[in-house]
Amino acid sequence: MRKASLMAETFLMGATLIDLTQPVDWKVPVYPGDPPFSSQQFCSVDKDGYSVHALSCSSHVGTHIDAPSHFIADGATIDQLLPSAFILPALVLDVSHKKDRECISWDSVEPVADRICPGTAVLFHTGWSRHWDDATRYFDHPWLAADVAERLVALGARLIGTDTMSPDQSPMVGPSAGDGDCAPDFGVHRTILGAGGLIVENLTNLDSLLGTGPDTEVIVSVLPLRIAGCDGSPVRAVAWLQSRGGGSLFVT
Ligand SMILES: *[C@@H]1O[C@H](CO)[C@@H](O)[C@H](O)[C@H]1NC(C)=O
Ligand SMILES: [Zn+2]
Repeated sequence: MRKASLMAETFLMGATLIDLTQPVDWKVPVYPGDPPFSSQQFCSVDKDGYSVHALSCSSHVGTHIDAPSHFIADGATIDQLLPSAFILPALVLDVSHKKDRECISWDSVEPVADRICPGTAVLFHTGWSRHWDDATRYFDHPWLAADVAERLVALGARLIGTDTMSPDQSPMVGPSAGDGDCAPDFGVHRTILGAGGLIVENLTNLDSLLGTGPDTEVIVSVLPLRIAGCDGSPVRAVAWLQSRGGGSLFVT
């Protein structure tokens, strides 16, 4: 107990945490076919002496992580992965010049590809988090070409993250959408998860990690709940900066 609080204390003194997590309530638009989110008072301080809520949601609600078993039948489930899989050095790419439903090709990654080492998390800042409350525009996000995922895996990237609902194209929704418009092929999901990697979706605030100097390293933490047999979990995604090659912020 004492040791744990000491570690947290030292950590907090050493770095500022940046919250990369979207707030979730019943109004936010979920993927077509996904179960809706609800959080209802089940016990209350007034009536029962304590407050408890009943939660009901998809395992992919809000800012969340996809385990390999989300697309791969015998892939690892979220509870099988060690905590170290979720705390990684990150490279944050600014692709906020991309327009609605524009493809992000390898050209956008190539200039910084030499900074992707085995175990790096690659995060795509599209700026789409600003459309979080917009039930149609949020679906019209830029998406990754399948070969970007293949090349990232080849370089050893273990996790990709995006401030959109998916690294793949999402279906068109809303009144003007035709049946099957932009039906996703999930090529990026299959490649990353098929390689045993992880995907984080619905991130926000990635712009606050841009423009760090070469001496600064971004560390991202996306620890999930340890739900047995589950294909994903909501996360509280955070990041902090530390000096490259500098000492660990944790007490050992
Ligand atoms: C976030 O992304 C996922 C895609 O996995 C989607 O199912 C979910 O509904 C999204 N949005 C919200 C508000 O949870
Ligand atoms: Zn997901």
